[in-house]
Amino acid sequence: MTSIVCVGAQWGDEGKGKVVDTLAERARMVVRYNGGNNAGHSLNIDGETIVLHIIPTGAMWEHTINVIGAGVLVDPLVLAAEIELLQSKGKLKDKRCLIISPFCHVILPEHRERDSNQESTRTNPLGTTKRGVGPCYEDKVSRKGIRIADFISEDWTISGGMAAELLNARDIIAPFVRDAAKQIAHFCKDPNELVLFEGAQGTMLDIGYGTYPFVTSSHTVAAYAPVGAGISHRLVGEAVGISKAYVTRVGTGPFPTQMMDKIDQLVREKGSEFGATTGRPRKCGWLDLVALKRAVKIDQMRFLALTKLDVLSGIDTIKACTTYILDGQTMDRMPHTAEEWERVEPGYVYFDGWDTIDENAFSFSDLPTGAQEFITFIENYLGVQICLVGIGPGRGEEVVLHDIVEEYNGAK
Ligand code: IMP
Ligand code: MG
Repeated sequence: MTSIVCVGAQWGDEGKGKVVDTLAERARMVVRYNGGNNAGHSLNIDGETIVLHIIPTGAMWEHTINVIGAGVLVDPLVLAAEIELLQSKGKLKDKRCLIISPFCHVILPEHRERDSNQESTRTNPLGTTKRGVGPCYEDKVSRKGIRIADFISEDWTISGGMAAELLNARDIIAPFVRDAAKQIAHFCKDPNELVLFEGAQGTMLDIGYGTYPFVTSSHTVAAYAPVGAGISHRLVGEAVGISKAYVTRVGTGPFPTQMMDKIDQLVREKGSEFGATTGRPRKCGWLDLVALKRAVKIDQMRFLALTKLDVLSGIDTIKACTTYILDGQTMDRMPHTAEEWERVEPGYVYFDGWDTIDENAFSFSDLPTGAQEFITFIENYLGVQICLVGIGPGRGEEVVLHDIVEEYNGAK
């Protein structure tokens, strides 16, 4: 069995889509286990950009089965549109390529309205994506939610403003609804198959362990993968973390490593740092190793994929935050409250920048010296190995330093 959880190690938008797409070349199955269409995974394949909000990234390959696990929230209008979009591009031709769990809770138009209303009355708005995700999880926990099994049953009558659209969506979705957990467990038990779990958002946005209250409403940590997939924890193997070479945040909340205006703007433009779901500009900051260390511990990752290193090319001095200074005290861990976190000053280490990264770079030694030093420092500070470095947005624009599928198999 090889199953790997691909988990965001920051505040989402780490480039999980690209990393999952790379690994999915060898995968039999890709499973989403949390969140809803607040997520946006941008894929740049053969010069075309596709953004997936709910269907797993494995759908870009013909050989993968893609599963929307029970921990995911489904907005039927968004899912139906996404199925149609992919089918129009020749994907998901075989109905067996997509499985939707009957236990997914359904986001309805009223959840989206409530999300907007709650945001506008909050004293400190969270900057939610207004996709109805929080209110839908509220209904799930209050035991009054509607699940996909209810939604597609003839007994449940659809009424209200969007009834016709919802009925149409129901017809598109229904053929894909099957026992997801059984299929996932089956492939996880097969020693010759690779199953990937594709996280949404990132560890720092986890409802329990992230930067509360500036978080999303689901568990995003790797430990949630078996719960959200409906299988035993014993069937899930290792986690690989995904982190940008810097940090971004969309939405509100403290952001200690915010870059100075000019660099923030440069990185945003060069890295296309605009929300894939909402289009909002993302705030850009220097790599926050204090926060990243916490994610590495929570998700027990041995390997980390470092994406978008090329975006930092051309900057004279690169910084990484290794300590927080709070009330004159230096600390190497995150404070427990948002109020304290708001007040920390970052303590940085500095690296010489580099001009460009060779687009044909193939191994570590092909990377510029400054980039090599940056990577080695990150590995030592975090106690992880960097398995992949992103050097461009497209498929194949990465330097693979470790074949994690092979290494995890060998370690068994
Ligand atoms: P919600 O998940 O829409 O309720 O938003 C709560 C917080 O999580 C806000 O700060 C959002 O910007 C953030 N968030 C939710 N999904 C994503 C994502 O996929 N990437 C980055 N931030 C996200
Ligand atoms: Mg995203």
